[in-house]
Amino acid sequence: MDLTSVQNAYRRHAPYYDAVFGVLLHPGRRRTVALANRVASARVLEVGVGTGLSLPAYRRGLSIVGIDVSVPMLEQARRRVRAAGLGNVEALIEMDAENLRFPDNSFDTVIAMYVASVVPNPKRLLQELQRVCRPDGRILIVNHFAATSGLRAAVERWLSGWSRKLGWRPDFALDTVTRQDTLEVMESTVAPPFGLFTVLHCRNAKGPSVIAASGVAAAGAAEQTEPRRRTENRLSARG
Ligand SMILES: C[S@@+](CC[C@H](N)C(=O)[O-])C[C@H]1O[C@@H](n2cnc3c(N)ncnc32)[C@H](O)[C@@H]1O
Repeated sequence: MDLTSVQNAYRRHAPYYDAVFGVLLHPGRRRTVALANRVASARVLEVGVGTGLSLPAYRRGLSIVGIDVSVPMLEQARRRVRAAGLGNVEALIEMDAENLRFPDNSFDTVIAMYVASVVPNPKRLLQELQRVCRPDGRILIVNHFAATSGLRAAVERWLSGWSRKLGWRPDFALDTVTRQDTLEVMESTVAPPFGLFTVLHCRNAKGPSVIAASGVAAAGAAEQTEPRRRTENRLSARG
């Protein structure tokens, strides 16, 4: 998948997105924003904000910045913000989540809802989320992760041949997220429908000196060498 095929897919999806995905993806979205409302303290970045379905649910004390690569999706988000008079939405910006134009440590909480399996390079996405999130800040991710066995795994493998048309990867692996050395998965909960989605509450365990998505670290590298968290052991599945 490349950025152009993502943009083409969401240009097609934009007119009916809310009617179809608004409902289907609502439980995980609601859970993630409720979590953000509990753990975020000031400035929140939502990447892949889409049509802005989540925006009315953020508490008013937070300042929300949303970015997306799809102009038709963003236009709907802007209309929603105007219609509902959402004064806590600081900005909605056309931007690539893999190349964020924000300085390091700009946000205390960073959120990616149903985006990680859509972007061309998920590892790069995660590096960027960590870069713009302050050390110890929270990174909240909700996504569909591939089943590892059984019928669902077989269907997802078959569907993955259609990724470009679908605009997402049905075979996206959970360990793409959990194997990040400096991302501590504090909690994992399963979300409806049919337990297809997972909400990950992560702590940004980067050292203060992690500079950029290139993975280059400068002085103080020792702080990056915090013992790797065995996140797999920490995952607790709750319905
Ligand atoms: C499945 S939709 C999810 C939208 C919204 N988060 C929601 O909960 O409904 C995925 C969104 O991610 C956006 N997206 C995909 N790749 C992106 C990238 N590299 N940078 C920013 N946004 C991206 C798409 O344009 C689309 O709006």
